[in-house]
Amino acid sequence: MKGVILAGGLGTRLRPLTSITNKHLLPVYDRPMIYYPIQTLVQAGINDIMLVTGGNAAGDFLRLLGNGEEFGLKHINYTYQKREGGIAEALGLCRHFVGQDKVVVMLGDNILDGSIKKAIGDFQKQEFGAKIFLKTVANPREYGVAEVKGRLVKNIVEKPKNPKSNYAVIGIYMYDSQVWDILKTLKPSGRGELEITDVNNAFIKKGQMTYEVIKGWWGDAGSSIEDLWAVNQFIGQRARNKK
Ligand code: DAU
Repeated sequence: MKGVILAGGLGTRLRPLTSITNKHLLPVYDRPMIYYPIQTLVQAGINDIMLVTGGNAAGDFLRLLGNGEEFGLKHINYTYQKREGGIAEALGLCRHFVGQDKVVVMLGDNILDGSIKKAIGDFQKQEFGAKIFLKTVANPREYGVAEVKGRLVKNIVEKPKNPKSNYAVIGIYMYDSQVWDILKTLKPSGRGELEITDVNNAFIKKGQMTYEVIKGWWGDAGSSIEDLWAVNQFIGQRARNKK
């Protein structure tokens, strides 16, 4: 199974912190944000990883991460997204890298406390389709929100005004190779982006989207200064507790 980490976009919601650098290079406690999703994938046994970046500071990822030795990797693959065309557009740049394999896609600003190793193992055994992770949150309006029925997801709405549940869709998605045909059918949303929620709803329509509700802590460090600050506090506290 291949891994893809998305670190493109302009990070406009975090300006001026992101005026001259990429959001995923900002500090989260004692290391750059991008370290955390890489560690999550490597810990789960994914060691063939492509990083999608964009904007002005793309070269800084190479200088920072190199071939990934610090994470126990032999090599990291890099690609460049020319404009902020959406999460699904960024994933589309990885088609040749992933080929016919299954893929786990992680947003570069999502940080998890726990491990996704077991869920990845479960998805390896899932015959076809996709799997997402959900987290009960107090503020679902800020995320993709899922309704579920039994072991399947019924529907996802991106940042709904009237959420039908408290299940936020977190930024880790697992797909089989049908995802490439689905990407071809997408149309830009109102905000001019190819939306990952449309990809997920296409798998839902096929009745092929399973889910796991995560119990541990999850943070989206990239949505606002408040979120970045809250994630820094959690990770800092966790590090101090370990000492
Ligand atoms: O954090 C979870 C949420 O992430 C989900 O609940 C939403 O359904 C999903 O749409 C997404 O929402 P955000 O508003 O947080 O997405 P954002 O624009 O912050 O992009 C998330 C990551 O994707 C970011 O770390 C960089 C990457 N990205 C984004 C865009 C728009 C790219 O690589 N290229 C892009 O063009």
